[in-house]
Amino acid sequence: MSGERRVAVVTGAASGLGVAITARLADDGAHVIALDRDDAVNDVVARLSKSGGSAEAAIVDLSVEDEIFAFTEVLKARHGRWDILVNNAGILPKLDGKAVPTETTPMSQWHQVIAVNLTAPFILCRQALPLMVERGFGRIVNIASRAARTYVVTSGAHYGATKAGLVGMSRMIAGEHAKDGITVNCIAPGRFETPMSERGSTEWLASLKATIPVGRTGHPEELAAMVSYLAGDESGFVTGAVFDINGGTFMG
Ligand SMILES: NC(=O)c1ccc[n+]([C@@H]2O[C@H](COP(=O)([O-])OP(=O)(O)OC[C@H]3O[C@@H](n4cnc5c(N)ncnc54)[C@H](O)[C@@H]3O)[C@@H](O)[C@H]2O)c1
Repeated sequence: MSGERRVAVVTGAASGLGVAITARLADDGAHVIALDRDDAVNDVVARLSKSGGSAEAAIVDLSVEDEIFAFTEVLKARHGRWDILVNNAGILPKLDGKAVPTETTPMSQWHQVIAVNLTAPFILCRQALPLMVERGFGRIVNIASRAARTYVVTSGAHYGATKAGLVGMSRMIAGEHAKDGITVNCIAPGRFETPMSERGSTEWLASLKATIPVGRTGHPEELAAMVSYLAGDESGFVTGAVFDINGGTFMG
């Protein structure tokens, strides 16, 4: 149980960046609700609990709105507080490791990407805000993408639209709640080695890596450190911002 700990929700916590973010926030002393549709998230929580972290798993399919609302009601009843929200879950459909062409994108895929990458973060913000306002403190961190900042060869139009949408949505909520002790920021990652980015042939993946000025892909722990700062007390003057973390592939 959360007790006096801050309650944090991390979505997409079963894999990749979400695992590192969950571990980091637990390390920072939060009670972390690790949300994913994949029940591998139970193992993530079990490992954390073993090492002294405070965490629980929530199996939720973010493409189903009713499941999200049901989850937030349970959270409210069980913890009565919600201090930190990290909208990290995302999907990026690809074709042989490359972007799905706009002309052949199935409409069902467009709707699925919008649902998971944009509508679900909106619902979670909507549901978290009243609890944050109540306590005069809140930290929302939305994981966007370099595809919200510039052209990216592996990203389809649907993915880019949702990531740019997250940036716009974050700015509006940041402005709406700036006087409530709530900050809302985006992180725009470049290439990190996770199951999402590792699809495609060895040659293709090597060619992508070769374009990164610092000469390597990102470590999930590096991104988790940025989340930790944006979710903590010291970032109260930072809101409505977008943080690039990409090894120099886009310098805005
Ligand atoms: N890895 C990168 O290089 C990179 C670059 C830019 C942006 N990002 C963004 O970072 C975030 C994390 O990416 P990652 O690389 O860790 O991806 P990943 O594929 O390794 O993990 C994504 C997680 O989200 C979960 N998820 C997907 N659909 C879901 C749904 N409907 N309901 C609940 N959970 C669902 C998956 O089960 C998985 O655990 C994503 O938003 C992604 O767009 C990643």
